[in-house]
Amino acid sequence: MTTETTAIDPATVPAFTLASGARIPAVGLGTFGSDRFSLEEIAQAAGVALRAGYRLVDCAPVYANEHLIGPVLAETMGDLGLAREDVFVLSKVWNDAHDPAAAVASVHQSLADLKLDYLDALLIHWPFPNTHERFAAPDARNPTSRPYIHAEYLAMYRALEELVDAGLILHLGVSNMTIPKLRLLLRDARIAPAMHEMELHPAFQQGELYQFTKDAGMVAIGFSPMGSPRRPERDKFEGDVADMEHPVVVRIAAELGVHPAEVCLKWAAQRGHVAIPFSVKPTQIAANLRAVTEKPLTPEMLNALRSVEANSRLIKGQVFLWEGSGSWLDLWDVDGTIPGWTGYGSTAAE
Ligand SMILES: NC(=O)c1ccc[n+]([C@@H]2O[C@H](COP(=O)([O-])OP(=O)(O)OC[C@H]3O[C@@H](n4cnc5c(N)ncnc54)[C@H](OP(=O)(O)O)[C@@H]3O)[C@@H](O)[C@H]2O)c1
Repeated sequence: MTTETTAIDPATVPAFTLASGARIPAVGLGTFGSDRFSLEEIAQAAGVALRAGYRLVDCAPVYANEHLIGPVLAETMGDLGLAREDVFVLSKVWNDAHDPAAAVASVHQSLADLKLDYLDALLIHWPFPNTHERFAAPDARNPTSRPYIHAEYLAMYRALEELVDAGLILHLGVSNMTIPKLRLLLRDARIAPAMHEMELHPAFQQGELYQFTKDAGMVAIGFSPMGSPRRPERDKFEGDVADMEHPVVVRIAAELGVHPAEVCLKWAAQRGHVAIPFSVKPTQIAANLRAVTEKPLTPEMLNALRSVEANSRLIKGQVFLWEGSGSWLDLWDVDGTIPGWTGYGSTAAE
């Protein structure tokens, strides 16, 4: 098992090429602490990660720590002599800022908090303009919540396209999308989305959506890449698969002499998508980056990992449901259609 914390040469970390030609590293630091780690601890982890050789940080206003991460990035980049273009900083627009003016204001706030002149990427965090109280019960319904309404999503997207024109955002991206929603966006976007951040781990490989994402010219970014063992209680359900305890993952980890977490990250990089593992622990932070630079999975191991797929979606998003919707499946267009106000079987407004 890797316990070294010496820096990894970023040049040895695999990277993927975005449609623009820009490169994005195969591993970046996640910065959502699942309500379990202090905001300061997470911000410090961003500094630890840069020193360890990371060059990608996945941020979001809803993680409530961009104002702490910004100064740490600035100080660490100064110490390491890194230029702005050496680091890929990604942020998002939260669900409470889908109004076009609010989305623009959110980007300006992220830039100020992160102490940056531009974002390498800006993602729309969820396709629903729905918010919930922190620590909300899983079955809570916010009366103002509504289903996906393409015209509203597009209005926000158009406002963000203008920020690309203005040079404040280099790449636009989406998150938690589905094939039907992506089809509408790809039809109507002036600037095509460059990336899709989606839940991806061995027990939730999302083969069809993953391939659609790649075929549409987007790089996939996998969140919760190790199966998010520390996710909030509201996101834990009977039947969820623990990737790092799966016998196939454990067997491969033993064969390579690494932690199961590292198997999940090797799988991501070798499959062809970015992973954004979270940790505040320096040994884990280093191990997670080193994982993609050495001891690759063999073809047999990669093949065996296909059998770990169990359609085990961990971040179901049930707190984003609206009154009138059915189960959390309504968020994911599982039958190929986008449900409207009364959930499955009703028609979405365009
Ligand atoms: N776009 C979205 O909607 C969305 C949704 C969810 C997450 N995300 C992003 O994805 C990031 C990662 O997802 P996540 O935090 O849910 O899940 P994760 O990265 O799969 O799991 C993180 C946990 O795994 C454990 N871990 C990390 N490295 C390890 C290692 N080397 N060995 C053993 N255990 C290790 C740690 O647990 P211990 O603390 O117990 O050691 C850590 O708390 C988030 O931080 C966020 O940036 C985005």
